[in-house]
Amino acid sequence: MDLLLTQTFPKADENVLLTVFLTKENLEDANDWLGTDFSGFSFQEDYATNGAKTLIPAGSFLCLVLGLGEKPSQETVRKATAKAVATANEYKFKSLQIAFPEQITPSFTLSITESAILSNYQFLTYKSDKTANTLAEVKIWAKEKNHKQAVEKGIIIANATIESRNLVNEPVITLTAEEIANRAAKLGNQYGFSVDIWNKSKIQSLKMGGLLAVNMGSKLPPTFSILEYKPEKPVNEQPIILVGKGVVFDTGGLSLKPTPNSMDFMKCDMAGAAAVIGALCGVATLKLNVYVIGLIPATDNRPGENAYVPGDVITMYNGSTVEVLNTDAEGRMILADALAYAKQYNPELVIDLATLTGASVVAIGGVGLAMMSTAEEPVKKQLREAGERVYERVIEFPLWDEYGEMIKSDIADVKNIGGAGAGAITAGKFLQKFTDYPWIHLDIAGAAWSQTPDSYRGKNGTGIGVRLLIEFLQAREIQ
Ligand code: BES
Ligand code: ZN
Ligand code: ZN
Repeated sequence: MDLLLTQTFPKADENVLLTVFLTKENLEDANDWLGTDFSGFSFQEDYATNGAKTLIPAGSFLCLVLGLGEKPSQETVRKATAKAVATANEYKFKSLQIAFPEQITPSFTLSITESAILSNYQFLTYKSDKTANTLAEVKIWAKEKNHKQAVEKGIIIANATIESRNLVNEPVITLTAEEIANRAAKLGNQYGFSVDIWNKSKIQSLKMGGLLAVNMGSKLPPTFSILEYKPEKPVNEQPIILVGKGVVFDTGGLSLKPTPNSMDFMKCDMAGAAAVIGALCGVATLKLNVYVIGLIPATDNRPGENAYVPGDVITMYNGSTVEVLNTDAEGRMILADALAYAKQYNPELVIDLATLTGASVVAIGGVGLAMMSTAEEPVKKQLREAGERVYERVIEFPLWDEYGEMIKSDIADVKNIGGAGAGAITAGKFLQKFTDYPWIHLDIAGAAWSQTPDSYRGKNGTGIGVRLLIEFLQAREIQ
């Protein structure tokens, strides 16, 4: 889809859906900038209410009026843009032209851009009929030249998110552990970061016991990918490491998923990995002056012939032992090896993203990301604020010692499940044992996948985490 700026007030025609963003503040002046097509027409106050959607005639064509309420936020503008895109496609328009007079700023232009692209996203790879949405162009009425940069940035961020969505939506029959590594390498070539892929024998020689244990029930080998983006003179000498859970499909293994239909969307269990890959695409395109490494342990989790079983004791990459009491708690097994491996880089900060627990879905649903962290307060604050800005909001759960008691094993150093309560936290507590650096864990189990259409986040893979990570790293660059 093309994103353009226009200096002249947009005009409706049979291909063009003119959309006016109406706020309480611009309501009074609205008639002035509407021009001759609308003479005699006056907006009513309730058109400007946040969420209001009204179709009015513009000459012999249509004008969509979207209310943004009073002092609209970036998220209000993203949501309004999503509505405009959906309406344009519903009525089969080719072009959408947005007028957001008086109040439009470059950051609103960025929000409109990213939301327009994300809202128009479709995953058509496996459709015989590849009829795409009719909408192929969005024009934003903005007078100043500095909006161009905002459009460019919005395009980059939306495209990075789409790369992530494409990976999440790909089924495991194609997106195996080897394939996610290959795709990362391909994207690395395209966007400008390096990717080193380890195969099974390398993983064996490094004794990544957690990753190998989860892989035992699979016919297909695991992979471990190392992504690197290193500008010449980065602001950080020690890298920021992003670790993504890459379970390309989670059946639960021998502790087969007990909840009806819960397996249906378990191709999304590599959404953490996809977020890391997408973020690297964005960071590299924006040429952020930040040194970033991505680590992606990948495998499927299946109940095959030689699958690891409850009761097994696994020796992990760092030499510690884990008693497996549920093979469905596999994410922490593979992440633990990656987190322990991250130590050797002497990282400034490690952030892992994982569709880790159903418990986090119970706690916060798909509305936000559950954070657990050992990083200093200012670092957590930066992430929280980045989350507010891009509306991928982060809420912190505690890592109190008592939760550590719940994962004590009788026969090994730790067990891979806790008790009935605090499932998201005992998972985080398990991961903490494999870290000795400032660390942030983000459980994205709820937000990674949407069963129903959700504004510009769409349906199915949402690409959650990509915009958050890019925003956070961008703030780190200028710090
Ligand atoms: N991949 C799942 C978590 C998940 C749930 C992701 C819902 C997306 C949506 C994870 O591997 C898992 O199965 N976790 C178990 C852990 C339990 C056995 C301790 C869970 O949360 O039920
Ligand atoms: Zn599982
Ligand atoms: Zn899983």
